[in-house]
Amino acid sequence: MRFNGRVAIVTGSSTGIGEAVALAFGREGGCVVLAARSLDKLRTHAERINESGGKALPVKTDISRISDVEEMVTATIREFGRVDILVNNAAYTELSLRPFHETKPEEWEGEINTTLKGTLNCCWTVLPHMMKQGYGRIVNITTAGVKTGSQYLSLYGACKAAIAQFTKSLAMEMVPYGILVNAVAPGMVKTGALDRVFGEDLLKSHLATQGVARLGDPEEVARVVLFLASDEASYVTGQHWSVCGGLSPQ
Ligand SMILES: NC(=O)c1ccc[n+]([C@@H]2O[C@H](COP(=O)([O-])OP(=O)(O)OC[C@H]3O[C@@H](n4cnc5c(N)ncnc54)[C@H](OP(=O)(O)O)[C@@H]3O)[C@@H](O)[C@H]2O)c1
Repeated sequence: MRFNGRVAIVTGSSTGIGEAVALAFGREGGCVVLAARSLDKLRTHAERINESGGKALPVKTDISRISDVEEMVTATIREFGRVDILVNNAAYTELSLRPFHETKPEEWEGEINTTLKGTLNCCWTVLPHMMKQGYGRIVNITTAGVKTGSQYLSLYGACKAAIAQFTKSLAMEMVPYGILVNAVAPGMVKTGALDRVFGEDLLKSHLATQGVARLGDPEEVARVVLFLASDEASYVTGQHWSVCGGLSPQ
């Protein structure tokens, strides 16, 4: 199996895309650390992986808190002895569609601290381990909106754009250490977050503007994430892959 002996941390793996990514690593032989705030859900997914012969560790983690992230990585090393793969999938999900000028500065913290700083916290904490190993794969989840613009989700789009840019820079810095860093930009994927943010009518009008006129499935994103995390992608770094049914042109 592709991930035999590999240890993968997947943030935001209690639901949606992160759940699909974590279960896919488990199916393909990886040791999976499931991280999010909802421990009950993480435990359920971990049991599923363990019962089917895989190895999984659920760790309650708020990625906006560096102490939580440090504890998560310590638990990973204690349980599995190394960390090969980090999928930065968790993001601030209490979103509502609003023009930027109607938001208040005190509302920006959630997005900045979770989506942007949470991703930085996780990278910063795993990198020393990956550098010591001389091996690592980081996959950051952004959004296709980085390429098209994120109308009424401008702060979310800005944080994801920062992650896309950070991905390219970090990729160059990490080449000497055997660490590859890429990003995946999902379009509209059927998850709880999408249902919460967009109503049915808005989704229909968005879908009419893209090539493949249906919502994506979390599994379809997971397949690209796993490819980038695998040794098949050994010559791919600093890239930003769209998985969006043709929503964005790149
Ligand atoms: N669905 C789409 O159409 C779409 C499109 C573009 C990009 N994306 C991106 O895809 C990723 C996954 O989104 P999704 O659609 O699968 O949404 P989702 O089902 O709501 O999943 C979000 C995950 O993030 C976790 N999370 C939120 N805040 C956290 C925190 N502070 N610390 C740790 N975990 C936290 C949530 O778990 P807890 O609440 O248990 O902590 C949950 O597991 C996100 O980065 C999102 O921006 C999604």
